[in-house]
Amino acid sequence: MPAVDPPYAFLAELTHRCPLACPYCSNPLDLARAASELGTADWGRIMREAAELGAMQVHLSGGEPLARRDLETILVDAHRAGLYTNLITAAVSLSEARLDRLAGAGLDHVQISLQDADAPAADWVAGMQGAHARKLRAAAAVRARGLALTLNVVVHRHNLDRIEEVIELALDAGAGRLEIAHAQYHGWALANRAALLPRPDQVRRAMAVVAAQTARLRGRMAIDHVLPDHMAVRPKACMGGWGRRFFVVTPDGRAMPCHAAATIPDMVFPSLRDTSLREAWGRSEAFQRFRGTDWMPDPCRSCERREIDWGGCRCQALAMAGAAAATDPACALSPAHGRMAAAVAAAGNEDFRPRRF
Ligand code: SF4
Ligand code: FES
Repeated sequence: MPAVDPPYAFLAELTHRCPLACPYCSNPLDLARAASELGTADWGRIMREAAELGAMQVHLSGGEPLARRDLETILVDAHRAGLYTNLITAAVSLSEARLDRLAGAGLDHVQISLQDADAPAADWVAGMQGAHARKLRAAAAVRARGLALTLNVVVHRHNLDRIEEVIELALDAGAGRLEIAHAQYHGWALANRAALLPRPDQVRRAMAVVAAQTARLRGRMAIDHVLPDHMAVRPKACMGGWGRRFFVVTPDGRAMPCHAAATIPDMVFPSLRDTSLREAWGRSEAFQRFRGTDWMPDPCRSCERREIDWGGCRCQALAMAGAAAATDPACALSPAHGRMAAAVAAAGNEDFRPRRF
């Protein structure tokens, strides 16, 4: 077996519990119940094992990680292990007192998700009255403590036309970085795809707005935004390549190469309850299957971009082309590429299904 490079970062999905109901949630449709969640000591061990393996960063996520009463203890363990800690939160329940405790436990960075710049629209998508105002108060509290702040807005058909307002809001909130992320069509977003996919003219206009604003705000606020897969001709290196830079730990302790990997039906993921992270990362079949380039079919196998995009996204290949080992349909060289445009053409202003247990 060839030597495997260490991971750079990982997503610790501490829980699937969440007070919000965003229809593009990256969690699986089959949400993990609280009773199946890993305990505090398990997470502490995973933080130490990850750092020993070479990981530099942990993204503490969910669901809503604040739903874990032991988040402070998990943070202390991550911080002591030497990991840079990023809390990814909806922030509607983030009190000033809790923020003080989290900062005291070693929190380095906070990423707050916003749904929109328009409060009623944001609350509608989040499924909670007053959520938007709470998030803005939490963002102000983060900045008041001198913690680094990123705002993240998932964009879709119902908010993309307010991209200027989103950028102004992030600037006013003092964010150092704004991530404008197109919904990734796995899990809940895939179930709601027909209601969420934006029109091509919306995407083109947003790209132009973001380009102009990125230039205007250089040195004040960084903006991340890339062309969504449904309008691309080449895929992105999903997760930086399967099992190359990144892994996910689910609330019940399974180690996976990406957050949607459980949609691949014949794949068994190592449980970190009884498998070391080193074993899971380095030797498990799940992490090996699409690592590198040996697994690739044509046209990827002979393509000059195969070590740039690593064949794109396995979960999107499964969802759109019917096989996880197929070429990502975001690539114009994929025989299934036409299905991406067909999905856009089939989308409309329909209702979405909120994320619920
Ligand atoms: Fe990437 Fe494969 Fe398309 Fe080449 S053929 S650009 S490797 S997805
Ligand atoms: Fe699973 Fe892209 S989300 S490989």
